[in-house]
Amino acid sequence: MDKYIIKGGKKLYGEVEISGAKNAAVAIIPAALMVSGVCRIENLPQISDTDKLLDILALMGAKVNLVNKTTVDVDCTDVYFNDKIFELTRDIRASYYLIGSMLGRFGAARTTMPGGCNFGVRPIDQHIKGMKALGATMNIGKGLIRAEAKDGRLKGARIYLDKVSVGATVNIMIAATLAKGQTIIENAAREPHIVDLANFLNSMGADVRGAGTDVIKVRGVDSLHSGTYTLIPDQIEAGTYMAAVAGAGGEIRINNVIPKHLDCISAKLAEMGVEIEEGDDFVTVRREGALHHTNIKTLPYPGFPTDMQPQISTVLSLAEGTSVVTEGVWDNRYKYVNELRKMGAEIQVDGKIAVIEGVPNLTGAPVAACDLRAGAAMVIAGLCAEGTTVVEDVEFIERGYQDIVGKLRGLGADIIAVSEPDGPAEKLTAVSAG
Ligand code: UD1
Repeated sequence: MDKYIIKGGKKLYGEVEISGAKNAAVAIIPAALMVSGVCRIENLPQISDTDKLLDILALMGAKVNLVNKTTVDVDCTDVYFNDKIFELTRDIRASYYLIGSMLGRFGAARTTMPGGCNFGVRPIDQHIKGMKALGATMNIGKGLIRAEAKDGRLKGARIYLDKVSVGATVNIMIAATLAKGQTIIENAAREPHIVDLANFLNSMGADVRGAGTDVIKVRGVDSLHSGTYTLIPDQIEAGTYMAAVAGAGGEIRINNVIPKHLDCISAKLAEMGVEIEEGDDFVTVRREGALHHTNIKTLPYPGFPTDMQPQISTVLSLAEGTSVVTEGVWDNRYKYVNELRKMGAEIQVDGKIAVIEGVPNLTGAPVAACDLRAGAAMVIAGLCAEGTTVVEDVEFIERGYQDIVGKLRGLGADIIAVSEPDGPAEKLTAVSAG
């Protein structure tokens, strides 16, 4: 789809089901390349990033069989290099996990530099440091990455990450799985999807311990075997619906979540006057009164997730008083602020700090999704705003949100997706409303 058209001002009510975690899926699909057998992956989100990764494996000879909408069988018994994957690997960030999985499987890797959302410079020096420590030679040039393990197999090593990096932790864990001997990753990232990847690898015969702490130990094994694995629910998708109801008002039940993963988001929303009740695998989120200002700093897990920063800042733009948001992970993650200003938000950005003066309301406007989470923020802004908002470039949103339009419509939102390049928003909304 090209754009979403949202008529704002409707409170949200009802229930929404959260899909499998994008960032777990995009690590686990490349990791499946190392399994000589069938990996059944359940609770797979239906999003374009996972589709592309499955296409990459298929181009490499994997048999990819969709069992149902959210379950896929991936059989990587007979796989080989195929440079045709380069067109796809350039598009997505997580394609760099193929470095680890190809090195594990083939003792060599050939892929491109990764694509993905542009939050400023996104270096991969820690990935390279890790692969080198495991005994790989790394050649990078002309947008291509070529790696080779000495004697055809990586060797376990002790690796201290200079920066807490989700991607480097994942890549090194994957590469170390089939290496000879033990690998110790220190200053590792602790995000829920790191634990999910470790659980996936272990259920296929790997020996990974300590995931979820900052020291992960991987004892290399000779091979991995077939198995079935169910992905965890998406923490950020759940957080996005929490932010949506916080902004628009109403009461929704968000099903298929791990409430513990949402603690940091729930705590901040509670400070803002949002009522949250936790069940075993659901949260109920209610917002009736005024929103209060607060301060937020994004940090690696268990800190407040940077991937929720645009959505929560959008809600704060409607809170009484002044809020200060500090981006602690990325250098340049406020590009969406220009779009929010078009809707009447009052936000000043200075480097990593955004000062938000709450306004009583936002006004619908044509805006663009600058990246995945910025796009989600625009959708939330549209739900909260008076009048009609047209969000362009929604392919960014569809990289990571399964059926966001259908799920929001299920909560009573007036949102439609259209592929016509132009057209009067009022008319299109009226046509779809039936
Ligand atoms: C992952 C997530 C992304 C999220 C980010 C931080 C996936 C597919 N994407 O991205 O949605 O915003 O974690 O939670 O899981 N860094 C280096 N050198 C490196 C690697 C990273 O300096 O080699 C820096 C980055 O510039 C950034 C910080 O470390 O400032 C964190 O990056 P990292 O955790 O690696 O993010 P990604 O894995 O790319």
